[in-house]
Amino acid sequence: MKLILIFVICFSTNLLSAEKKILQKANNNLNDQASLQRGAMLFMNYCSGCHSMQYQRYQSVARDIGIPDELMENNLIFDKNSKIGDLMLSSLNKSQAEQWFGGVIPDLTMITRVKGVDWVFTYLNSFYKDDSRPFGVNNMISPNINMPHVLEELQGTTEINFKEKLIDGKMEIINEGIKSKGNGRLNEDEYLSSLRDLVNYLEYSSDPSKLKREKLGIWVMSFLILLIIFTFLLKKEFWKDIK
Ligand code: HEC
Repeated sequence: MKLILIFVICFSTNLLSAEKKILQKANNNLNDQASLQRGAMLFMNYCSGCHSMQYQRYQSVARDIGIPDELMENNLIFDKNSKIGDLMLSSLNKSQAEQWFGGVIPDLTMITRVKGVDWVFTYLNSFYKDDSRPFGVNNMISPNINMPHVLEELQGTTEINFKEKLIDGKMEIINEGIKSKGNGRLNEDEYLSSLRDLVNYLEYSSDPSKLKREKLGIWVMSFLILLIIFTFLLKKEFWKDIK
C-alpha cells in the first residue's frame, strides 16, 4: 500500500514538473502601477466584450490602480448601461454565449488563482492557425478551446514552428512552439510585454487587497521596529538604578 502511495506521489510530482517546463514565466510585477493600468486597458478593450469580472467594480479597480474616476468612466467602460459603481459584467448573456461559442464563457476575476499566472500568460501566447477549428485557431495548452485569438491583430498570424532535428541518429520533427508571421501591430517582445501587463492586471483582480496588504505591512513592520527601540530604551531606564 505504502509503495503504491509513494509511486503515485512521485508520478504526480513528475507530471507537475513536466507541465512547469512547458509554461512560460510571466514575470509580472504587482507593484508596477503603470503596468497594471496598461493591463486594465487591454482587458477592457480585448476581453470585457465576452468575459465578465463579476467580483470587481469599475470604481474599485480605478482607485486601486490609480486611474481617475472620470478617465475610467469616459474611456474604459464600454458597456453603455454601466456606471462607475457597477460590477464589471459582460454585455454578452448566457444564451448568446451558448449560441455563439457553444458553452459558458468563464468569469476572469479569479482565473489566475485557478490556473496560475504563468498558465494564463502561456495560454495567451499559444494560439495558432488551424483551419479545422470554428474560429480558425487552436491553442497548444488548451486544445480545441472555443475562444478566438482575440489578440491576433497585435501578435499577427501564428503557426506552429516545426523543425527537423537529429536525435539519437534519427531525424525527428520537433514542435518548437508558435511563431508569428510578423503581420501584427507588435513585435514579439512588445507582445510578450503586453501579455505581462494583462496577466498582471488579472493577478491583481484575483486578490485586490494584496496591494493594500503589502503597503500596510510596511507600516506595521516600521511601527514594530520603532516599538522595539522604545521598549529597549525603557528597559534600560527601569534597570538603571537597580544594581
Ligand atoms: C469573442 C469572445 C471572447 C473574447 C473577446 C475573449 N475570450 Fe476568453 N474565452 C472565450 C470563450 C468562448 C472561452 C471558453 C471556451 C471553451 O470553454 O471552449 C474563453 C476562455 C478563456 C480562458 C479559459 C481557458 C481555459 O482553458 O480554461 C481564459 C484564461 C480566457 N478566455 C482569457 C481571455 C482573455 C485574457 C481575453 C482578452 C485578451 C479573452 N479571453 C477574450 C471567449 C472570448
